[in-house]
Amino acid sequence: MEKAKILIIAGARPNFMKIAPIMHAMKKSEKLEPVLVHTGQHYDVKMSDTFFEELNIPRPDISLEVGSDTHARQVARIMERFEPVCDEQKPRAILVVGDVNSTMACSIVAAKKEIKIIHVEAGIRSRDRSMPEEINRMVTDAITDILMPPSQDAVQNLLSEGHAPEKIHLVGNIMIDTLLSSRKLVEQSKILETLGLKENGFVSLTLHRPSNVDNIENFRKILAALEVIQKELPIVFPIHPRTRKMISEFGLEDYVASMKNLILTEPMGYFDFGKLISSSYFVLTDSGGIQEETTVYGIPCITLRENTERPVTVWEGTNELAGCDTAKIIALARQIMDNNWKQGRIPDMWDGKTAGRIIEILEKEL
Ligand code: UD1
Repeated sequence: MEKAKILIIAGARPNFMKIAPIMHAMKKSEKLEPVLVHTGQHYDVKMSDTFFEELNIPRPDISLEVGSDTHARQVARIMERFEPVCDEQKPRAILVVGDVNSTMACSIVAAKKEIKIIHVEAGIRSRDRSMPEEINRMVTDAITDILMPPSQDAVQNLLSEGHAPEKIHLVGNIMIDTLLSSRKLVEQSKILETLGLKENGFVSLTLHRPSNVDNIENFRKILAALEVIQKELPIVFPIHPRTRKMISEFGLEDYVASMKNLILTEPMGYFDFGKLISSSYFVLTDSGGIQEETTVYGIPCITLRENTERPVTVWEGTNELAGCDTAKIIALARQIMDNNWKQGRIPDMWDGKTAGRIIEILEKEL
């Protein structure tokens, strides 16, 4: 029998560690044929190519090269360029991961062409519509045929939105497949030596959400907390291109440079970054995925957001929310430095076997 062709969509950095295990597992399937489409939402070597090389992801079969723009223009450009790909490739389904603009844009195109949509990481909700990703999640899930949530709370969200139970398949957290299979290479990273850091002797920071870095008041409130914390422990800050741009636009360079223990670096590759966070005393972040990774590594995490679409990392893991409230960030950091933090556990089905479960379901369903 002819294999079912599936277009696998990747667009931005957090997609790459999710598609890697799916691509590897699907290549081995006798029933499924993956075709990799890179939209080019992220295009810098450090935001894209590095992950393909490290995670051994085959070169994209199709590149849409859309680049950065306003949300409307970026989404429109992805849709315009993805439509003829669907016409030429005639896939049985498309598979999207996560919640970036590429996820939603390609899903809309497929839905209009009556091509089946598979969404891995379906059902997570922050209930905060000011967050672009929340819109992407809601729209994508509304038109998805095969919903693959990472955790039980996401299953409940989908059920309460009226999705039929038979469309929902709890598969676990795909990103953790990559984390667990990379442990050895992460261990071998020399990033601590390169930066002159001691295991457990520093804090890691990531910051890129528009609500934190595109708003000067919020950005300043976070920086004020960093100013205090870096006096006690060095803070390593691999800086996202959006954040770098905003520091310069807001004229914050001198303030940032005045913090002698705030170490700015370029965006890191997957192995170096894994080594960095798993060796940290604690992590400060506004990322979604890092809340999950710190829970698996058992490293305390303070999330610089008011809400999270990944509440299981707070209920079961090592995560707490601080928003951009200077006093709260400092108080939580103090609590960690006083060794007064919850232990946390790894949520069910975050076990490195998610890609296998996905393939098994798709071989039956397609
Ligand atoms: C996107 C995702 C976000 C994810 C983040 C991870 C959406 C709505 N947002 O946000 O969910 O957490 O990726 O990084 O899809 N830029 C570069 N080089 C690149 C890519 C971007 O310099 O390779 C710069 C551009 O100035 C661009 C800005 O970063 O305007 C923002 O990029 P964009 O893809 O729009 O959103 P992110 O903030 O990266």
